[in-house]
Amino acid sequence: MGVEIKETRVTDAEFEEMKGFVFEYLAASVKKEEEGGRMRWYPWHSAEYRHNHILNVVSLSEEIARKEGADVDVTRVAALFHDVAKLETDQELHAEAGARIAREYLESRAGYPESFIEQVCRAIEHHSFQGDLTDLALETQCLIEADLLDKVGANGTALMLLRMGYEARTHMDAGEMVDRVLERGYDAASRVQSETAESIAHQRLKRVTWFREWLEDEIAAMGD
Ligand SMILES: [Fe+2]
Repeated sequence: MGVEIKETRVTDAEFEEMKGFVFEYLAASVKKEEEGGRMRWYPWHSAEYRHNHILNVVSLSEEIARKEGADVDVTRVAALFHDVAKLETDQELHAEAGARIAREYLESRAGYPESFIEQVCRAIEHHSFQGDLTDLALETQCLIEADLLDKVGANGTALMLLRMGYEARTHMDAGEMVDRVLERGYDAASRVQSETAESIAHQRLKRVTWFREWLEDEIAAMGD
C-alpha cells in the first residue's frame, strides 16, 4: 500500500488547525524578538493586526475565487499562509519565506497532493508581485486582489485614523489622512482585474468618499 492520497478538499477542521498554526507562528515571532526591535506598538506591526488582516484576506479571496471560478481551497490556504513570515522576515523576503513555511506544514500532514501544495506555494511566493495581475495564475490573482482590497474602505480608514493617534496628530488632520486612504484605494482599484474585485473596490471607495464628505460637512474648519 502506498501513501494514501486524499482529494484536495481541505476540510473545515483542517482549515481551523492551519489557522491555529499561523496565529501561533505570528505570536511566537513577536515573542522571540529583542525588546524594541520592530515598533510593535504601531498598529500595522502587531501580531493581532496581522492575524486580523489575514482573516480579512481569507474571506475576501474566498469570495473572489468562488465568483471567478478559481480553486477555492488553493486560494484560501494560500491566503491563510501568505503573511505568516511577515513579522520575522524583511518585507522583500516574506513571500518566499511564507511559501517555505506553508510547504513544510502541508508536507508534514499526510495526503495533500504535490500539485495542490505546489499551487498554494506558488500563490504565496508571488503575492508581492507588482506587475500585471493577469500574468499570474488565477488563484494568485485572487490572493493579491484580496490583499489590496483589505487596505481600502472602512477598515483602511479606521486603521489610518488609529495611526494618527500614534503619531500624536489632532483630528483636524483626519481629512488629509482619509485622502491618503482614498489615494491608496484608487491605486488598488487600478490594479485589480477581476469583476468581483473591481466591484468590491468600487463599493469600498464609495464608503471612504462618503466618510471624507461627512467629515468636511461636520467639521467647520475643514471646508476652508
Ligand atoms: Fe497581506
